[in-house]
Amino acid sequence: MSSFPEGGLSSVENASQDELHALQLQRMKWTLNLAYNKVPMYTKKFDDAGVHPDDLKQLSDISKFPYTTKQDLRDNYPFGMFAVPREQVLRIHASSGTTGKPTVVGYTAGDVDRWAELVARSIWAAGGKASDMVHVAYGYGLFTGGLGAHYGAEKLGCSVIPMSGGNTEKQVQLIQDFKPDIIMVTPSYCLNIADEFDRQGVDPRTSSLRVGIFGAEPWTNAMREEIEARMGMDAVDIYGLSEILGPGVAQEFVTTKDGPTIWEDYFYPEIVDSELLTPIEDGTEGELVFTTLAKEAMPVIRYRTRDLSKLMPGSETVMRRMEKITGRSDDMMIIRGVNVFPTQIEEQIFKVADLSPHYQLEVSRDGNMDNLTINVEARSNSLDDAARTAAANTLQHQVKTMVGVSAQVNIKAEGEVARSQGKAQRVVDLREL
Ligand code: DLL
Repeated sequence: MSSFPEGGLSSVENASQDELHALQLQRMKWTLNLAYNKVPMYTKKFDDAGVHPDDLKQLSDISKFPYTTKQDLRDNYPFGMFAVPREQVLRIHASSGTTGKPTVVGYTAGDVDRWAELVARSIWAAGGKASDMVHVAYGYGLFTGGLGAHYGAEKLGCSVIPMSGGNTEKQVQLIQDFKPDIIMVTPSYCLNIADEFDRQGVDPRTSSLRVGIFGAEPWTNAMREEIEARMGMDAVDIYGLSEILGPGVAQEFVTTKDGPTIWEDYFYPEIVDSELLTPIEDGTEGELVFTTLAKEAMPVIRYRTRDLSKLMPGSETVMRRMEKITGRSDDMMIIRGVNVFPTQIEEQIFKVADLSPHYQLEVSRDGNMDNLTINVEARSNSLDDAARTAAANTLQHQVKTMVGVSAQVNIKAEGEVARSQGKAQRVVDLREL
């Protein structure tokens, strides 16, 4: 079997745009050939669409090739997407999703190594260095977060604490005793850890943590400010998805905090109109689509992520950035005809000083009207009734004016909104019950 062609730029730090594009084109051709020759699903998809890997003459020709969706992975459950014999697959991860069979992904030894390199590069961009200690509170297991972060931190030469998610008291104890420099965790779980610091009577700003590398779920810049102020550290965004790699597809530089830089030497991004499925130019919002450029075990062509973002020019490197994800099309609620993302509500919650960022949204149906309820905790249990009512009214007004929907607001006591230990569940859809 043809293995991944090394010999391109090992580092794109100083590459010109032309060098980057040449490398991408070479890798894209290799990937299309691998997929077409080794994965029956792609042979059929390409044949049905009347395209052949040889049709790719320039990068933009990728738009002639068919998309891949989560359903394709499900249809080929468990190992039908693999382009190498199972014996060459060193690692398997899976994501369960809410319904149906899990989606399974595989990595060769070379893939695991390149993944570690990309996460090491990400931690470096986040301000990490070899001598740092990294506390990993992403879940270990089939989820790619824990092991992905772990191998990358080791590759950079850090001391790694494989704490995983959960056991919040112990998270705080270990942070206090071991004094890590960096934490890698979902932003929602980080808030939970901050609350536990408070409960133990310790100011989280006094901890040793210097940088938090947050991802696996959408989070707003308002959430970044909250975490930075409460924890006294820099908060940067790491993006990824299992189908393409896991964490380390894109990473925000701590020096600029201007949206994740896509590691374009390994992944080719496109933005497409999620209805028309036509490519959209850089700078305009749409659905993010990725083609892997160097995955051996599971090459993926034009994967529709369902994540909404836009592509922006590089700032720290020649590689393009993506705008912080505003939401997933799956999480979009349609409330009486208005499209609403949980992050839009999150932004408004942050504007009300008496409300905490622990929230969950409920969508229910009354006849043929959809109703949105915002369950959100008060900052403090000592808030009196008048202040609670005022906070609820302010949020309701803000949501109506800024987001354009009417919502009912329920102010909850501390701890009454379900806490996340990994990815937060922001929407409970009662219409499905
Ligand atoms: O969440 C991989 C990961 C782990 C990324 C740890 C970052 C840190 P999945 O479980 O397959 O993989 O979920 C992928 O999570 O399509 C996005 O909707 C969402 N997501 C991941 N990172 C971000 C982020 C991992 N930084 C799905 N901002 C993706 C917003 C994110 N959403």
